[in-house]
Amino acid sequence: MIELKTPGEIDAMAAAGRVVATVLSTLREKAAPEVSPHDLDMVARDMIADAGATSSFIGYQPSWSPTPYPAVICASVNDAVVHGIPDRTPLAPGDLLSVDFAVHLDGWCADAAFSVVVGAAPDPRDLALVAATERALDAGIAAARPGARLGDIGHAITAVARRGRYGLLADHGGHGVGRTMHEAPFVPNQGRRGKGLTLRPGLVIAIEPMLLLGARDGYRHDADGWTLRTADGSHAAHAEHTIAVTADGPRILTAA
Ligand code: MF3
Ligand code: CO
Repeated sequence: MIELKTPGEIDAMAAAGRVVATVLSTLREKAAPEVSPHDLDMVARDMIADAGATSSFIGYQPSWSPTPYPAVICASVNDAVVHGIPDRTPLAPGDLLSVDFAVHLDGWCADAAFSVVVGAAPDPRDLALVAATERALDAGIAAARPGARLGDIGHAITAVARRGRYGLLADHGGHGVGRTMHEAPFVPNQGRRGKGLTLRPGLVIAIEPMLLLGARDGYRHDADGWTLRTADGSHAAHAEHTIAVTADGPRILTAA
């Protein structure tokens, strides 16, 4: 069932979203060579506590995972696409880092992610991949207008990926967000224009394109059961916002 949110509930979700945006902008500043994903996780833990929020990730265990998730951020480096568990290996110059983060505040969840290449001499191909992923997210958000269809969002994302000849994961995508992190509907990163659910004011969804430098779309899981890697070892980027469909158009809830 798809639960539409009232304007007051959307404002409450935006408060959770502001916490997410503030933490992610701090992590973006701190991400650098010599800093480890575990260090970033510790920064996020402190900021969650200061904000009076709780992590939506720690202890989370969907049906497909062998263990509860052990951290408050996902940190996916280079060929890791999503769900990387933060480790103590310092980032190296040129690493492509994706950070995914969600909190609950006053009973409402917000979920977002960004990608960045750390160090002084980033590979231009990685920078282009990150920029395309952000453009794909922007295009998906722009398509989330009342009266449009769910397929319009996936179509917009796929169009950006195709233009750059990037790979896309077919069976991973966004989701409804509300009192829980993952709700109906599933929001595919591929879709057909004019097809699928009609978007109505009050629909709150996370839109999250994941683009692969390799044109092949395969992936595999690490032994930890969480980390999703590209099958061909190519780098991947991820960007995500939680947005509300409103009468005035899409409203980004995970913005500062
Ligand atoms: N934000 C992630 C997503 O929507 C959820 C990560 S699940 C966790 O896919 F357990 F790793 F936290
Ligand atoms: Co998400």
